Amino acid sequence: MLDALGNLKRTNYCGDLRASDADQDVVLMGWVHRRRDLGQLIFIDLRDRAGLAQIVFNNELHPEAHQKAEELRSEFVVAVEGKVIRRQKSNREIASGEVEVMATRLHILNNSKTPPFQIEDEVTASEETRLRHRYLDLRRPRPHRNIELRHRILFEMRKTLDSLGFFEIETPMLTRSTPEGARDYLVPSRVHHGQFYALPQSPQIFKQILMISGMDRYFQIVRCFRDEDLRADRQPEFTQLDLEMSFPRQQDIFEVIERVMIRALEVVGVKAQGPFRHLDYKEALRRYGSDKPDLRFGMELQDVTPHFESARATIHFEGNVQALVAPGAAGWSRKQLDELGEAGKSAGARGVYTVKVTAEGISSPLEKTLGAEGLKKLADAVGAKAGDLIVAVAAKEQIAHTDTSLNVAGQVRLYLGDKLNLIDRAKWEFAWITGFALFEWSENDKRWVSAQHPFTGIVEEDLDKVETAPWECRSKGYDLVLNGVELGSGSIRIHRQDVQARMFKALGLSEEQARQRFGFFLDALTYGTPPHGGIALGLDRVVMLLADEKSIREVIAFPKTTAAQDLMAESPSAVGTDQLKDLGIAIKPSEAGIAAKKDA
Ligand code: AMO
Repeated sequence: MLDALGNLKRTNYCGDLRASDADQDVVLMGWVHRRRDLGQLIFIDLRDRAGLAQIVFNNELHPEAHQKAEELRSEFVVAVEGKVIRRQKSNREIASGEVEVMATRLHILNNSKTPPFQIEDEVTASEETRLRHRYLDLRRPRPHRNIELRHRILFEMRKTLDSLGFFEIETPMLTRSTPEGARDYLVPSRVHHGQFYALPQSPQIFKQILMISGMDRYFQIVRCFRDEDLRADRQPEFTQLDLEMSFPRQQDIFEVIERVMIRALEVVGVKAQGPFRHLDYKEALRRYGSDKPDLRFGMELQDVTPHFESARATIHFEGNVQALVAPGAAGWSRKQLDELGEAGKSAGARGVYTVKVTAEGISSPLEKTLGAEGLKKLADAVGAKAGDLIVAVAAKEQIAHTDTSLNVAGQVRLYLGDKLNLIDRAKWEFAWITGFALFEWSENDKRWVSAQHPFTGIVEEDLDKVETAPWECRSKGYDLVLNGVELGSGSIRIHRQDVQARMFKALGLSEEQARQRFGFFLDALTYGTPPHGGIALGLDRVVMLLADEKSIREVIAFPKTTAAQDLMAESPSAVGTDQLKDLGIAIKPSEAGIAAKKDA
């Protein structure tokens, strides 16, 4: 028989009880975390959002409550009336460990099936099982902590932006496609057969239109949708802190975001200071081999190509060679060196060559090729000391569309930084990356594409190169990087209609295509558009870093798997034929078959 909650009112959270609450009469409510039956005494750990409290049922003092407590099992939901007493021996593992509650009455409000895994942070269950039962998974302390942290960070961001005069304005979820480089999620229209809404990849055009509308300062904590390949830091739906300002200088936008991020860090007790450092894109690439450099450690890339010039024929390298000086790695074993080589290869290196510098001398498999003299010169050039390992990464100039030999060496740098524990986990290293190119060449499409998106402003002096020398055009874009993670991206925008039209043309859109896709926006631009600019931060990534998690899935209440599925709600899913008929959609039998098989 279950009890009703009735008029019973909770007085405290379990995890909040302290020694100062001793002798208080309390009513606690929560889940049975664990039960120990010692005959005359039954102990339960009662769990709620704030943590655990120990409850004692004493058969001599309160036989009725004790008898009822015999029925309790894991995850039953109960209300306990009782008195807080000091424990003879406190339990330092839980925050309420100095006290326990002597139960006088027990109300069993609901029972529970045996959960498929223990509600503990150290779960052994697979991520799949956990996500399938996400409601149980979320009962663990770690997700609780992460979700609370997320709330606090978002709340502080809202307060900060409000104090800076920003309005939070909602933009449509059912809209039309805005290109941000990924595929759209489409929603079929029932009223207009054959037509589709797109879920926003970002509110880019709408926020720019809000500037045209004179809203001056906009922000939104907004869900964005992108159908792209998923990774630890990517979800098909994710949340941005999106903002836009009218009449801004670049530094005004930077200052706003610095204020927001400094407040966010305070939530986890970290003091940060602005202004954040600025790094030119090319410099970041040259020194760290990345446009999102992890600046918590040095070990910069050094171009040593000239030292290898004479060896081109023997070691068959094309492109260039970047060296990293790994402190203290001269003693690495064969196995460690092999693993390093593997890491380099999987990053796209043609070869990873190592040179050990010790007090006894310099040794390397390259000795035959470069000669003792050559090795010495190399070690001097890169400033290697006894105990260091020089890691030379040879790679083709251009690996793929955007990856270069520098990116390959940059990945080896991160590998070494991790293996050698060079990364200071207590550091929070922000950087603004600027000086991006406006266009990138797409080998797939055989045309120039926006490096960021087509609304990014162009450095004035380069305006006339848009048609003639697009590769030389510099963008007014910037990225915000924290500890090697791209947190956000933005730009001063194009606000002149003629420039925007030229931009679309340079991207290969005919006038007709541009009008068809962006006509409303091109029109809006003609009615007195103020200079404007903005940025969007990936909030899941911000929270991930502040929560010290490795994946954004850990800071999202209901994340999707890397196969873009919600295992709990079982989406995506097939829909009924009636629904499809309403939408004027027919699924080809062959495709339906594939879908059915996947679901099975
Ligand atoms: P961008 O496309 O760079 O810029 O996105 C901004 C930030 O959003 C985060 N992000 C993601 N986070 C999780 N999962 C994803 N799939 C994902 N994709 C992006 C990243 C990224 O830096 N409209 C522009 C902003 C602007 O110009 O103002 C935009 O969306 O942290």
